[in-house]
Amino acid sequence: MEATHLIRTARPEDSARIAVLGANVWVHTYAAAGVSEVIAQYVLATFTPEKIQTLVNDLGAVVLVAEAEGNLAGYIVMRFDSYHTDVPIEIETLYIHASFSGRGIGSALLAHARGIAEARTGNRAIWLIVNSQNEKAISFYRSRGLTQEGVAYFALGGIKHENKVMVARD
Ligand SMILES: CC(C)(COP(=O)(O)OP(=O)(O)OC[C@H]1O[C@@H](n2cnc3c(N)ncnc32)[C@H](O)[C@@H]1OP(=O)(O)O)[C@@H](O)C(=O)NCCC(=O)NCCS
Repeated sequence: MEATHLIRTARPEDSARIAVLGANVWVHTYAAAGVSEVIAQYVLATFTPEKIQTLVNDLGAVVLVAEAEGNLAGYIVMRFDSYHTDVPIEIETLYIHASFSGRGIGSALLAHARGIAEARTGNRAIWLIVNSQNEKAISFYRSRGLTQEGVAYFALGGIKHENKVMVARD
């Protein structure tokens, strides 16, 4: 079913909603074994309204939100001058609330971000990292033309987690 959603640039007053949705999606995606103390501390430290507000005001980033009937359904964070080889724009985050997954909102946010990339740089190239265990997201990105170009590691609580570096150049 097509979701009726609106995509717009995030405003500072969206920060609380983005923080809550971000924490929720992170736990839903990565805490399948339950919430450890390390995870709890990471989520509480990362998804704060203050940090999201700083991000929204950061001239080196763009945050787009997708709203459905006025409520936050998902968001994407683009980071400029964050290079993987020759590609200068990183998709730092793409999170859709589980209730809205499979309705085209993630695709729409990614397409919107790539349009902004084209306006800024003259081409739609972007790159990102995705946890190597996150098969749903990996197949989502593959079906949207991204291919793997190496791996990167994300450390949490002293444990290294493998991530795939994925790139779309056209
Ligand atoms: C991965 C993620 C971003 C995908 O977002 P999404 O909004 O569910 O993705 P879409 O709906 O655009 O596309 C997903 C599937 O839904 C289907 N779909 C797309 N538009 C649709 C529509 N209008 N109606 C029904 N289904 C649709 C597509 O077939 C697509 O399948 P495919 O990937 O096999 O081609 C989202 O599930 C998510 O936030 N996951 C948790 C966090 C995460 O893993 N983020 C990425 C980490 S880097």
